[in-house]
Amino acid sequence: MSKRRICILGGTGFVGRRLTARLAAAGHEVRILTRHRERHKDLLVLPTVQLIEGDVYNAALLRREFRGQDAVINLVGILNERGRDGRGFERAHVELPQRIIQGCRDCGVRRLLHMSALRASPDAPSHYLRSKARGEALVMGSEGASLNVTAFRPSVIFGQDDSFTNRFVRLLRATPLVFPLACPDARFQPVHVEDVAGAFEIALDDHRTYGQSYNLCGPDVYSLRDIVEYLAQLAGVQRRIIALGDNLSRLQARLLEFVPGKPFSLDNYRSLQLDSICDGNFPSIFDITPSRIEDVAPLYLGTPRSLRYSKYRSQGGA
Ligand SMILES: NC(=O)c1ccc[n+]([C@@H]2O[C@H](COP(=O)([O-])OP(=O)(O)OC[C@H]3O[C@@H](n4cnc5c(N)ncnc54)[C@H](OP(=O)(O)O)[C@@H]3O)[C@@H](O)[C@H]2O)c1
Repeated sequence: MSKRRICILGGTGFVGRRLTARLAAAGHEVRILTRHRERHKDLLVLPTVQLIEGDVYNAALLRREFRGQDAVINLVGILNERGRDGRGFERAHVELPQRIIQGCRDCGVRRLLHMSALRASPDAPSHYLRSKARGEALVMGSEGASLNVTAFRPSVIFGQDDSFTNRFVRLLRATPLVFPLACPDARFQPVHVEDVAGAFEIALDDHRTYGQSYNLCGPDVYSLRDIVEYLAQLAGVQRRIIALGDNLSRLQARLLEFVPGKPFSLDNYRSLQLDSICDGNFPSIFDITPSRIEDVAPLYLGTPRSLRYSKYRSQGGA
């Protein structure tokens, strides 16, 4: 792939950091727009990475920073908003993509990669999924001769520093004896962050991905209960996991919405009413064999004991 100038929004986050590392290693010049430059200065050890601080919703900033870029990548997303009426989701997932598309048009940027979410749809039960669908539709609708777009729709993404497996391990450790689990039967197909970042990297230069939207899933389907039990075993935490029924799950969401940091919200509960699983395999166009969670999570979550004795490891990732 020839060397590119790539501007990333959300490049300081969990997925963004892995993607930035890959792009920098391939010699691309990466310009990350961030609200907090100081917090993410560690990224500057990567020789071709620039951090630009500013308000990403500001059209003038986008015009200034998009000029001369070969591609723009939008990874900005939120799982919870400050309020409860959906306006926060609308701003991050719809207004921002709208401004990014306009910025690309104004500056002659010809390539846009956009992160959506699996099961995003206009009639999904949560603000999160509906707003993701509207943003994705805007991006896909902007495909044309002057701007080529690709969207990605992953299931939950895991990896070192994720806020999925790490959060459950933290919660398990912080909860004495019994762990009440909301929506235990919700199903996921966790996908490794390296596989997601790999798909973005490959898509940048592959014209076959223009105008396409890709569901990204790992190889296996799990219930949330399976995953939490597995994580507890991996982290060496002995807790009795109590599967909450629907009413108690909703009640837990209502209560935790008021806890600082919103560890769980009604909107999250509503998203979990849909299984986050794919119909088919990882898109073959990327030539990626997606990693299994059992092959990766022990490397960053496992206690030395669980690493040595885990049935998952001894069975070679089964
Ligand atoms: N992680 C998953 O399991 C998962 C699953 C499906 C889809 N996705 C989507 O994948 C994308 C990346 O996810 P991630 O896990 O890497 O997210 P993340 O770690 O939270 O990073 C997102 C980045 O977006 C920026 N950001 C966050 N809130 C913002 C706001 N209100 N306004 C402007 N910028 C904001 C932040 O950058 P600064 O602080 O530097 O400004 C942050 O580093 C998101 O669109 C997410 O919805 C993630």
